[in-house]
Amino acid sequence: MEKIHNFKSKILSLMTSKQIFYSIAIIICSSLYVNRRKISSQLYYYLGYLSYQFETAAYKYKKTLRPDKIIIVRHGESQANVNDNLYAEQPDSQIELTQNGLNQSFKIGQLLKQEIGENKNLVFFVSPYQRAQQTAQQIIKSFPKVEKMITEPRIREQEWGNLQKFQLNKQEQEQVFIERTLVGRFYYRFKQGESASDVYDRVSLFLESLFREMDSYSQAAKYGQNRVFIIVTHGMVMRLILMRYFKQHISDFEKMENPLNCECWILQKDQKGLYKFNKKIKLEQDQTFQ
Ligand SMILES: *[C@@H]1O[C@H](CO)[C@@H](O)[C@H](O)[C@H]1NC(C)=O
Repeated sequence: MEKIHNFKSKILSLMTSKQIFYSIAIIICSSLYVNRRKISSQLYYYLGYLSYQFETAAYKYKKTLRPDKIIIVRHGESQANVNDNLYAEQPDSQIELTQNGLNQSFKIGQLLKQEIGENKNLVFFVSPYQRAQQTAQQIIKSFPKVEKMITEPRIREQEWGNLQKFQLNKQEQEQVFIERTLVGRFYYRFKQGESASDVYDRVSLFLESLFREMDSYSQAAKYGQNRVFIIVTHGMVMRLILMRYFKQHISDFEKMENPLNCECWILQKDQKGLYKFNKKIKLEQDQTFQ
């Protein structure tokens, strides 16, 4: 009997209090598991409740580590913005920026640097379309710290068809826009292309990934709130992102104005880790395009 007692006190003296706590917890848990039919359901209920409370507290804490700002940017002036015949000859995904568009993109990078400071860690999500990629490349010239640059197909432009032949014929083009007005901008589907409601669905999936990325513990713990997420995309996608995030109605979407080239929409995090629309940044000498 005395031997056993000595053994016990020796083991205990070797363990830290933390290890004792974990050992007891492991013993209790395994016995609960083995005898689970004999344990009252009340106890299970309380254990479940406790772990739910821990999870909720951890999730609330993680939300406070989200990036301070999410900035959504429209690409600069594209070749097709100044000549819409181009849509009939080149795939939309390959249309490039004009020299003016490149300049605009660099300028908006400079304005964003004034807005957020140059020492933020930036995570970019960029549409795979050439004009968005080129815009992002100009913006990052103003920022030394780019943590990640992700090409994200789910924020590509609404597809208007493989090659948009209707853009060559003014009468046909007009007919398409009249029909779109009749059906509504949200539901109208281009031939061989997508409707805005199709784009809404993929934008919803994108937002899920975006928030998973924000809430990833390893990234959040490393960079904390000193991060800004920048989404470089297209006008229609920007409007749909807002509609989805703020749970707006279809009629609100249809009333929303399309952003200008390089226009930025800034979402600011509140204390709970949710985002509010903060402001728009526009370049001065812009023109509006379809
Ligand atoms: C673009 O910027 C360069 C350098 O600042 C300038 O020389 C050029 O005229 C600009 N081009 C356009 C089209 O704005």
